[in-house]
Amino acid sequence: MLVVQSIAKNLQMPYDYKSIFKVVSDIKTIPVQLEKRSYSIYLDDNWESLFQEGLSSIYTKDASDRKLLLITDENVANWYQQAVEEQFRNLGFTVTTAVIKPGESAKTLGEAEKLYDIALEANLDRQSLVVALGGGVIGDLAGFVAATYMRGVPFVQIPTSLLAQVDSSVGGKVAVNHPKAKNVIGAFYQPQSVLMNVSSLKTLPKRELSTGLAEVIKYGVIYDESFLSWLETHMTDLMSLDLSLLSKAIQRSCEIKADVVSQDETEQGLRAILNFGHTVGHAIESSAGYGSYTHGEAVSIGMIVETRITHLMGMVPAEYVNRLEAVLIGAGLPVTLPDVDPNVLIGWMRHDKKNIGDKIGFVLPVGPGRVEVFHNVETDIVLEALA
Ligand SMILES: NC(=O)c1ccc[n+]([C@@H]2O[C@H](COP(=O)([O-])OP(=O)(O)OC[C@H]3O[C@@H](n4cnc5c(N)ncnc54)[C@H](O)[C@@H]3O)[C@@H](O)[C@H]2O)c1
Ligand SMILES: [Zn+2]
Repeated sequence: MLVVQSIAKNLQMPYDYKSIFKVVSDIKTIPVQLEKRSYSIYLDDNWESLFQEGLSSIYTKDASDRKLLLITDENVANWYQQAVEEQFRNLGFTVTTAVIKPGESAKTLGEAEKLYDIALEANLDRQSLVVALGGGVIGDLAGFVAATYMRGVPFVQIPTSLLAQVDSSVGGKVAVNHPKAKNVIGAFYQPQSVLMNVSSLKTLPKRELSTGLAEVIKYGVIYDESFLSWLETHMTDLMSLDLSLLSKAIQRSCEIKADVVSQDETEQGLRAILNFGHTVGHAIESSAGYGSYTHGEAVSIGMIVETRITHLMGMVPAEYVNRLEAVLIGAGLPVTLPDVDPNVLIGWMRHDKKNIGDKIGFVLPVGPGRVEVFHNVETDIVLEALA
């Protein structure tokens, strides 16, 4: 882990940020309504306007003694560390940056402990800010550190992968992994603000763009059929990084996730619909070994298998399965199962958190733009859908 300590050069700087930068932008703001924990997501294509709109209203007071721990990974630091640090310094922050190795293996208690060490060395107090700059791994890890350091310090998310922008940075789930299971040590902890720079997707590897698109397509299937149609029309342009269209896709995805989360923050009911494709998807990830498939690739196959299940139950026509296959393939995603014994996959599904007793829980499409939770699917039907 590399640590960079940098001090704001001019602590006398005025903090009326709007007077420093004059930015013409069409920033999008998506409110996340969670009573006292409400906040907004800001979406634009440049850092200046994002910081101006998304942070200057929170940080208007004299900031001469304000500290910040910026957590990022090596890939993201390479592109965005400097620009983001500069924006925070302009707001009067003393910035300490921790750069960690990329990948899921960083989401551990051990890595969190190293970050607590850095936070203590930099004298971060309860008013200090923890910032996640990166994909979902960084968001989950930094969020976990923010939720636990001194019983919770303010937290800001700057998601840079598509998956983080449409999914992991929205809704307040933060976690690290345990050697025996993913995401089992965590909390619900909402950020103060989420800043999304759609331009950051220009440097994202293509495979990671596809993995994020799997979740985007999921929102159309579970919540909004017209969004699904829109995605079908624009998939080629989305894949070739049309930022204006990507921005629209991110906005609609965030609106849908925010709507679901604001009705069920702590996953007592409705929030489960976000797990469409995930019962089978998680089983594929587990049986293939983490790393063989990206999360979105496994969920893509999962969405097809789970739609086939409802087709076999007589709830959606075969054309709907074909329609989903086409849009997922267009997004560069796999739709066919790896060569694994279906019984092994069912074995993994029996560990799913949506299960009740020994009944496997599935979120299944019951019509375009609509899903329901089922606990009564016959094993024979699941096997047939996996065949
Ligand atoms: N909290 C939640 O609600 C939630 C929801 C879904 C997923 N997750 C978690 O999110 C994680 C997966 O997130 P992810 O897919 O973003 O993975 P990730 O954070 O590993 O990022 C994917 C890769 O892209 C790189 N990267 C990110 N942004 C980049 C950019 N703009 N340019 C170049 N490279 C960039 C990263 O360094 C990494 O190598 C998993 O740990 C998963 O459990 C959490
Ligand atoms: Zn997912």
